[in-house]
Amino acid sequence: MYDIHCHLVYGVSDGPGSRDSAVAMLQQAKQNGVTGINAVAHFGPWHESLPEIVGSLQAAADAAGIILHSGIEYDFSHLLEHDLDWRTIGPQSHYLLCDFNSSRIPFSAKARFRELASAGYGIVIVHPETLFGPSEIDTLISLKDTRAVIQINAANLLPDANPRVRSMAWKLLRRNLVDAVASDAHRPDGSRRNRLAEARQLVAAECGNATARILFDVNPERLLVDKAPFETDIQPRAWWRRFLPGR
Ligand SMILES: [Fe+2]
Repeated sequence: MYDIHCHLVYGVSDGPGSRDSAVAMLQQAKQNGVTGINAVAHFGPWHESLPEIVGSLQAAADAAGIILHSGIEYDFSHLLEHDLDWRTIGPQSHYLLCDFNSSRIPFSAKARFRELASAGYGIVIVHPETLFGPSEIDTLISLKDTRAVIQINAANLLPDANPRVRSMAWKLLRRNLVDAVASDAHRPDGSRRNRLAEARQLVAAECGNATARILFDVNPERLLVDKAPFETDIQPRAWWRRFLPGR
């Protein structure tokens, strides 16, 4: 399993505070079945030091059998710049992580995504479930007409997630709008730990093994080699199940 969004870079941005914590995250990733990580920090003045920090984790990653890539999580405002040396999710990929950091999708997003697509770049819209309500779903669908894909966070699918965020995560998933699930882990413990295995198990139970495989295994690997993700084919639930508590 390739984790396309994991804040493994320690000592900068909001990542783990120490190398030991980052190494503990690698162990946790291994326990979750992860074999490759796009190790990111948010874009900032530290961005040039990221490969060196990620490099200092290489031996620990090798020992855990995990391939590391040094990436960046961009804010949409950074994607508006034209002279950045874009850091993608993997060495063969042209997909960039994009956090909107706002509760509405800016009007300029579609035009900019189209420009980036014509320059060869795809956009991974990260965790829209944490930012947006159902009123933004139509806009998200229209962004998918460009080379944009949707990534949700594993932890947001789980029963102890914020109910509003969890409801949106499942809504996107059940409408077959989600392309990949990532950890977005920031710590080896607490609410921002890696919970990919738990989420995978739950998605398999709710939507079937084939869907779980597409979202957790197949599509992250496809994005990594610059291929468009496969669509999921989750069938609508029986009407009466909508009245059950939870999802
Ligand atoms: Fe993130």
